[in-house]
Amino acid sequence: MKLTAEQIRSFHNSGFLAVAEPVLDGSELNRLIALYDRMFAEQAGRADGNQFDLAGPDSENEPARLSQILHPHRYFPELRGAYVDRLHSVAGQLLGPEAKTEIFHAILKPAGIGVRTPWHQDEAYWKPDRQYRSISIWIPLQIATEENGCLWFNDGSHEWEVLEHRSIGGDARVHGLELVDDSVIRHAVACPLPAGGFTIHRNRTAHYAGPNLTEAPRRALVVSSVLPDRPYPALRRFPWNEVKNTQRKMRAGGDAGSDHT
Ligand code: NI
Repeated sequence: MKLTAEQIRSFHNSGFLAVAEPVLDGSELNRLIALYDRMFAEQAGRADGNQFDLAGPDSENEPARLSQILHPHRYFPELRGAYVDRLHSVAGQLLGPEAKTEIFHAILKPAGIGVRTPWHQDEAYWKPDRQYRSISIWIPLQIATEENGCLWFNDGSHEWEVLEHRSIGGDARVHGLELVDDSVIRHAVACPLPAGGFTIHRNRTAHYAGPNLTEAPRRALVVSSVLPDRPYPALRRFPWNEVKNTQRKMRAGGDAGSDHT
């Protein structure tokens, strides 16, 4: 799979790219959907803090409104497939040959009750003393529309610093982060996709997804590709992560602080 010169230029200018050409064919989609639904039904990774509700307090008695599984291939290795290699080759065209590519997480926006994913920059979840150079590749396993929660990106925001974030709704029990002031979002672009298409964004590109207003689940997988991180060249703090007090962190024995969503 080869990006055009125009796609590469557009990615570097805007900090995101939507590719409608599917990286998954029909049989791969069916195989992945079956695995995906089993994985979420079984809450794979819950005991390790890797399965949790991104958008709520993540209690045991309530259905997750934005269920996430980090590193899902650790629990379901069959999730891997030739598509990861194809995406690695795409990533190499943007990051160069040193990039390492792996499945990163799965996010399920359930039918009807799936809430919005507020505007955020992924780097805000990570370690403030590291400097990152990475991309996330988001792949919907069915059509992604504004109605079921396709991604939106703010054009050019990959050039921003990491802005101030907080736990969603200011509730430190919630793992998910949001920009404290989203009036900075002035160039939002919706990226609807066919099943198996994908978007690519940088570690600081501000993005959002709406609620799932449809009667079908919105399933998405995220593959990430990273260059080696380096020490951050200045003193930096992400106080929103220092005050977080999530159930997933308790389940993980206190060590689930800086994982990505
Ligand atoms: Ni994100």
